[in-house]
Amino acid sequence: MSIVSNRLVRGQLLHFLADPGMGDDPAAWQFFDDGGLWIRDGRIQAAGPWAALTAALPPGVGESATVHDYRGHLVLPGFVDCHLHYPQAGVIASYGRQLLDWLNDYVFPAEARFADASEAERSAAFVVDRLLAHGTTTASVFATVHPHSVDAFFAAAEARGLRMLCGKVLMDRNCPPDLRDTAAGGMADSLRLIERWHGRGRLRYSLTPRFAPTSSPEQLRLCGELLNSQPGLHLQTHLAENPCELDWVRQLFPTRGSYLDVYQHYGLAGPRSLHAHCIHLDAAERRSLAAGGAAAAFCPGSNLFLGSGFFNLDASREAGLRVGLATDIGAGTGFSLLRSLAQAYEVGQALGAPLPALRGFYLATLGGARALYLDDCIGSFQPGREADFIALDWAATPELAWRMERCQTLAERLFALMMLGDERCVVATHVMGEVAFVR
Ligand code: GUN
Ligand code: ZN
Repeated sequence: MSIVSNRLVRGQLLHFLADPGMGDDPAAWQFFDDGGLWIRDGRIQAAGPWAALTAALPPGVGESATVHDYRGHLVLPGFVDCHLHYPQAGVIASYGRQLLDWLNDYVFPAEARFADASEAERSAAFVVDRLLAHGTTTASVFATVHPHSVDAFFAAAEARGLRMLCGKVLMDRNCPPDLRDTAAGGMADSLRLIERWHGRGRLRYSLTPRFAPTSSPEQLRLCGELLNSQPGLHLQTHLAENPCELDWVRQLFPTRGSYLDVYQHYGLAGPRSLHAHCIHLDAAERRSLAAGGAAAAFCPGSNLFLGSGFFNLDASREAGLRVGLATDIGAGTGFSLLRSLAQAYEVGQALGAPLPALRGFYLATLGGARALYLDDCIGSFQPGREADFIALDWAATPELAWRMERCQTLAERLFALMMLGDERCVVATHVMGEVAFVR
């Protein structure tokens, strides 16, 4: 006989059913000022106003449930970070270079140190714990070229019960020799990792060609074949981040019409394919990416830090593109998706389309889940979803408290939270209902 676990969560509940867009579409979100979640065996059973939810509980549930009282705090689905490199946590805040020099000067030496498996294990534990402390419960994660770097990350995620995507970097040219695989060797390593990890508990494998310049046409071809040979595999890479990168891709793939065309040609831009950055794309390319079912990871902190450019969120929405928010550690300067939202707002201002707060919180939760094709599992409080959620303190700093006292509406409060908030706001992070982090 299995023992059923019941939990009740009380707080100010906010979740999304769709993208609220630029006009805060009221059909796209639900807010319960005195709200409740009923969680049964780690999954959402019901969400709604506390009084109605508890009145409708079957006999005995209320008495036996564990209660988490977050009254006065904002309760949201766990944040989804659509793109980060866990081995780069140690090179966050490395000065003064743009993408290609930054990779050579800082990133490749750091990733080479992952030849030592203990470096990978210590880094994986550190990063997963910092994600939880920042309210992030799911991420799409680059490891290094070393297969054991994926083992280390998935083991750390599994130990904490997290839903995570990760993959071994595929890179067989234009990089230091000690970080280079081969087209055939990279596939064999990926296959072994897929067999070991893909679909194990909450983990899923994401094939990870770093970006077009560091893979031979043969590696991209084999990667596309593998991706399309097994249902449910994911793919993550980088696309159109930096102007020098675009020139380089043109030289390396002279017969392809564009950077995007390189990936499309090899079958690397369909459903469950995630392309980080997507800054330097035109309207037709955005539409083409969207029509194929691929998604974009918007990494505002990274794009500002490396001087890469401004991602056009509005144009992406017009094109029907799935978009998630991401830190892109270590080009991003921190794990906080609240800080990323503030940066996304500033990028939007530079383009004349300031990001509304409701849309921002959608991006950091359900938007990310949709970009990763995981919205049937995570990203909202709809019944059946896995109960990964966070409680946020509206007034974690004196500045927040001062500002909140002067806010009138929910949208104003959410906007102040996204502009002034960071990990100090994270009161608790729950994974499958259970407490995984407490401030
Ligand atoms: N393009 C190829 N590799 C990388 C990386 O590690 N970080 C970023 N931001 N862009 C890349
Ligand atoms: Zn990246």
